[in-house]
Amino acid sequence: MNEAMRAAWAEIASLAAAPDAAAIRPLFAADPGRFGRFSWAADGLLLDLSKTSLNAPRLAALLGLAQAAGLAERRDAMAAGEAINATERRAVLHMALRAPREAGFRTGGEDASAAVAQVLERMGQFTRLVRGGGVLGATGERFTDVVNIGIGGSDLGPAMVTRALWTPAAPMRAHYLANVDAHAWEALRPQLDPARTLVLVASKTFTTQETMTNAALVRDWLRGTLGEQAGQHFAALSTNMQATAAFGIPAERVFPFRDWVGGRFSLWSAIGLSIALALGWDAFTRLLAGARAMDEHFLGTKLEANLPVLLALAEIWHVNGLGYPTRAVLPYDERLARLPAHLQQLEMESLGKRVALDGSAVAQATGAVVFGEPGTNAQHSFMQLIHQGTMPVPCDILLVAQPDHPHADSHRKLLANGLAQAEALMRGKAAEEVEAEMAEAGVPAAEIARLLPHRIFPGNRPSATLLLPHLDAFTLGQVVALYEHKVFCLGALWGINAFDQWGVELGKQLAGPILAELEAGTPKPGAHDGSTEGLLRTISGAWRA
Ligand code: F6P
Repeated sequence: MNEAMRAAWAEIASLAAAPDAAAIRPLFAADPGRFGRFSWAADGLLLDLSKTSLNAPRLAALLGLAQAAGLAERRDAMAAGEAINATERRAVLHMALRAPREAGFRTGGEDASAAVAQVLERMGQFTRLVRGGGVLGATGERFTDVVNIGIGGSDLGPAMVTRALWTPAAPMRAHYLANVDAHAWEALRPQLDPARTLVLVASKTFTTQETMTNAALVRDWLRGTLGEQAGQHFAALSTNMQATAAFGIPAERVFPFRDWVGGRFSLWSAIGLSIALALGWDAFTRLLAGARAMDEHFLGTKLEANLPVLLALAEIWHVNGLGYPTRAVLPYDERLARLPAHLQQLEMESLGKRVALDGSAVAQATGAVVFGEPGTNAQHSFMQLIHQGTMPVPCDILLVAQPDHPHADSHRKLLANGLAQAEALMRGKAAEEVEAEMAEAGVPAAEIARLLPHRIFPGNRPSATLLLPHLDAFTLGQVVALYEHKVFCLGALWGINAFDQWGVELGKQLAGPILAELEAGTPKPGAHDGSTEGLLRTISGAWRA
């Protein structure tokens, strides 16, 4: 960490130590123009940060950190194809996936934009053929169902997008098989007809245990009906051409991408093929266009009006300034039900790091715990804790102004609830308000005194509201890219590598010997701690019984 960064962190800490640092309500009372000053727009999206305790000096200090961290320079280095994923010595070029051919993204001598254009061309052609009946199943039937077998980034993004945008008028349904728990496959299988099912094996590495196990299960099922012709029902989405060939998928059915696409940033690559098949090629290209619009905003807008930067700075204020270690994502749109799951991987796999780029221990907290549910369901689940618990939880509230159904009354209620949650969190309800309300309702004084502490809301609980004019492929592309760039910014501000994920390896390593012991039906004495050995013995016994 350089001197300027140390000074910026110290400035943020000193502002956050002030007694009123977390207060939001008084900021509105003091400044009627607060909404205008603390909300920003980009291509139709509106980000309102006025219901946080950011004010001009706090924002200036946070922008000072961004300057000191060289955020703009690091962003430009990413766009220039430098190997900013230092631990894996890789570039980070998901922006190339949604840029036009002429954008000219390059890395290590490779024309990344040309490589992208080539694969997109093939994906578009394949999509049109499959949806139009130009590519048929082994028995001559049209494909009506696509099963994407993948996990993590090879599942969450595409599953989230198709859930958000699919309509029953579409000629194909998409299904997502991720967990190695075969209950998932057993639940899906009855919904499928082998003659009409196309299978995409989606895996960057093509070695992931869950995916390869599920791919083998589904291949066996297809072979049961179609014999050796089952191969015609497969395609692969991967960087590992050797492994896809070894699995028996011919090169013309492999849609590749490069190692400069991280798994959690890969829905725009070949990994998004299930999106194109389910929603159509136009929708997929609109999704890319929305993300591209956000890329252009991110690359070309000064930091103080740059949505991803501002979202990241608000998070720094909450996590590091005020010590709020979690964040809730509340999309007030049922179609975005899987967005929290996608953001969990995007943010927590990227930012859950305890060492800086140079290997030294980080000097401040990193990645927040992200969780969420669609509103209004969340209100009847965990919002109690967010309103009255001891730990403030900043919320991202996503609202969509215009619905795609004709039920205006339902939509008004949905919006009213989303707006009300943000207002309630910020305003709270003081003792005098509770008292007056109960007295007016005729509650006896003794009862008011008894219930008063339980009915006070502390308020001053922050939320960011993201308002979309409409939910469609373009705006969804904008939103996902917004969060991707926010993650990049936080990585740069915290001085960590947001693009590796070594933390997932140890569990995978230890699962190998445990699997062998489960196969043998008995634990290897002394190989584990007492708990693991005890559990293994009990499980093996239960299995035998
Ligand atoms: O969980 C670790 C991880 O490597 C993720 O980063 C990735 O998205 C997921 O596994 C799936 O990996 P693959 O696409 O290589 O199967």
